[in-house]
Amino acid sequence: MKVRKAVIPAAGIGSRMLPATKSVPKEMLPLVDRPVIQYIVEEAVASGIEDILIITNRGKGAMEDHFDFCPEIEARLEADRKYSLLESVRSSSNLANIYFLRQKETRGLGHAIGRARTFVGDEPFAVLLGDDVMMSKVPVTKQLIDAAEKYGAAAVGTQPVSDELIVKYSSLKMEAMENNIFRVTDMVEKPKFEDRFSNYPILGRYVLTPDVFDIIDRTPPGAGGEIQLTDALKELCRISPMVAVEFEGVRYDTGNLKGFLEATIDFALQNEEAGGWLREYIKKKALSL
Ligand code: G1P
Repeated sequence: MKVRKAVIPAAGIGSRMLPATKSVPKEMLPLVDRPVIQYIVEEAVASGIEDILIITNRGKGAMEDHFDFCPEIEARLEADRKYSLLESVRSSSNLANIYFLRQKETRGLGHAIGRARTFVGDEPFAVLLGDDVMMSKVPVTKQLIDAAEKYGAAAVGTQPVSDELIVKYSSLKMEAMENNIFRVTDMVEKPKFEDRFSNYPILGRYVLTPDVFDIIDRTPPGAGGEIQLTDALKELCRISPMVAVEFEGVRYDTGNLKGFLEATIDFALQNEEAGGWLREYIKKKALSL
């Protein structure tokens, strides 16, 4: 099974980051030197993905511009001989074949993924949630693709979370298979604490088979009145194999201020230009607190 396509749902309104997201899509907020969405696309590309569908909504046009050529800026940088900047500006428009589709109505993650049926066709595909940025040695999507190929199964990413967080995410019922791989047998979206199966939620990454589309079409609204992908996957894992991969890496929820600031600091510390002086600045600052 070769996974060549990915779907990135990026239609949410970014309410947890208002007022910053009033006129700027949350996926376009900059993490150090690039918008959040570029990290997600780069992870997909580094995982072997060639075709990417970004599901958007009204007011998200800036994302399309970001992955397009920008002749005015490029001509200016070329005239000024700013070649490395030129290269970084051009690279975002040459990453992959990127397509955009508007969700039109915001009816939940399951509904958004359902819109990708024609794009996906008859192939397995990856899903990368637009808020969840990962820092890892091996791209997290690649870790899932490897497991999906090895076991001939769908795959979801997971890591254990606190009691406080599990009720805000989803909860997986799983059995140990080997090392960091588990067999998934059931799941629940936004569980009440007493209804959770485990403290392992799905965290932002999936490799799915196209069977999921028929299931999504008959999935009624669930938690929050929305059509939940988790509800469709609950059925998918009953009819075909699914594994959970406890991935290596750190996941940041950049859709809220805490996750966004943590990601900003951690990625900035790794940045060639900023890392050195930021480390010194943080040390000095910490001493004065
Ligand atoms: C979504 C998914 C949920 C998952 C979470 C974190 O929820 O529906 O299953 O655990 O992302 O990746 P949301 O954060 O959009 O409410």
